[in-house]
Amino acid sequence: MGLDDAADLQRSSFPSTFAWGVSTASFQIEGAAREDGRGPSVWDTFCATPGNIADGSDGSVACDHYHRYVEDLDLLTQLGVTSYRFSMAWSRVQPNGEGDWNEPGFAFYDRLLTGLAERGIEAHLTLNHWDLPQALQDKGGWLNPEIIQRFCDYACEVGRRFGHRLASLATHNEPWVVAMLGHDSGIFAPGLKDRAVAMQVAHHLLVSHGVALQALRAQGLQTRLGIVLNLSPFHAATESLTDQHKTHLEDGMLVRWYLDALLRGHYPEDVWQHLGDDVPKVNPGDLTTIQQPLDFLGVNYYTRSVVSAGAPWSAKDLGLPVTDMEWEIYPQGLTELLVRLDRDYDMPPIFITENGAAFKDKVENGQVNDLERVAYLQSHIKAVAAARQAGVNVQAYFVWSLLDNFEWASGYAKRFGIVHIDYQTLKRTPKQSALWYGQFLRGR
Ligand code: FCB
Repeated sequence: MGLDDAADLQRSSFPSTFAWGVSTASFQIEGAAREDGRGPSVWDTFCATPGNIADGSDGSVACDHYHRYVEDLDLLTQLGVTSYRFSMAWSRVQPNGEGDWNEPGFAFYDRLLTGLAERGIEAHLTLNHWDLPQALQDKGGWLNPEIIQRFCDYACEVGRRFGHRLASLATHNEPWVVAMLGHDSGIFAPGLKDRAVAMQVAHHLLVSHGVALQALRAQGLQTRLGIVLNLSPFHAATESLTDQHKTHLEDGMLVRWYLDALLRGHYPEDVWQHLGDDVPKVNPGDLTTIQQPLDFLGVNYYTRSVVSAGAPWSAKDLGLPVTDMEWEIYPQGLTELLVRLDRDYDMPPIFITENGAAFKDKVENGQVNDLERVAYLQSHIKAVAAARQAGVNVQAYFVWSLLDNFEWASGYAKRFGIVHIDYQTLKRTPKQSALWYGQFLRGR
């Protein structure tokens, strides 16, 4: 799809109150890893082990957003977004994850929030986008139940200082990723490989979410409070019973485990049975704590999941359209997912907190002609419109991401930005997708 084929996609088909934004995360863009008193996070440690990051890189400079945030805020103005989603680096504001607060760290986020307010852009903050203070990991990290109180202290301090300046505040980004990729497959920080540990970590993340929400509500905050999950529709590779069974189970691990707990106050029985000895230790009252009212649910959507009990299913091998991550481009899955969530749960309003794609972008004559990303964004925004037409209460859409950035275990090789970063010079070049998004937001 070219730029002109978007004629039937109009901002005006969404309500004027609909929030349009872009997303980033602290570790992926900030850099300044050792400046102004920031403590190390688990991702600094993870990057330091050879073999963990595809290109051997780390987050010490990243996009240098810590120093160039004014330029980045101006990019937001150029885009014409109403809203910006970002995360706070816990170890920047509390280097040890407990004890003293680091004022220069808070001062950075104060400057950022002031810059957003001056530009009339809403701030959507995530407390935990994975960069846990290493000092807390040294005490067991998310496995140690004491972290629940530490996280609550951090959430409350942020609420007290900044709550009134935020349009929304999310506790965690993608707890499934922290639990499973961080503690089961070990391909993300802190790199552990133990499913029982992973499930206990998932439980502590959810309990800490509930405890923090209760405490923030007790402060009388007007900010909308929620959590962000990575979700996808699940399809079986074949009609065989084994594929169907595995598909239901994987849906249980990713979707129902989190949503049944958050919205119904229990874990799904079939997944609990399947986990056997790896089930988490659950204290009386934990699930009531987890089931706090949500002002919004953040949904991150990239692709569907196709499950095979045999050889792994590969969209690329089947010749289906894929991104540079080899994730299938499947916009209809976003409509399907949203309609399913709305049907199966008593849903709070939904924000699409991340949606986007990596492609092999190149600067040519000062331009990045990323028409595949333009088409990806257009088709997914249409998928959101279709879900809204089907009655799903989606209130916000954020592109992942504003900038090319540190893509976790893939390092800098995978580019998700609508603004290109030259990592030699740190020059920012808006791609064609940024120009298109700006035109769309201006109603052209
Ligand atoms: C999500 C993460 C985000 C980014 C995208 C591509 O899982 O939340 O930080 O890496 O994937």
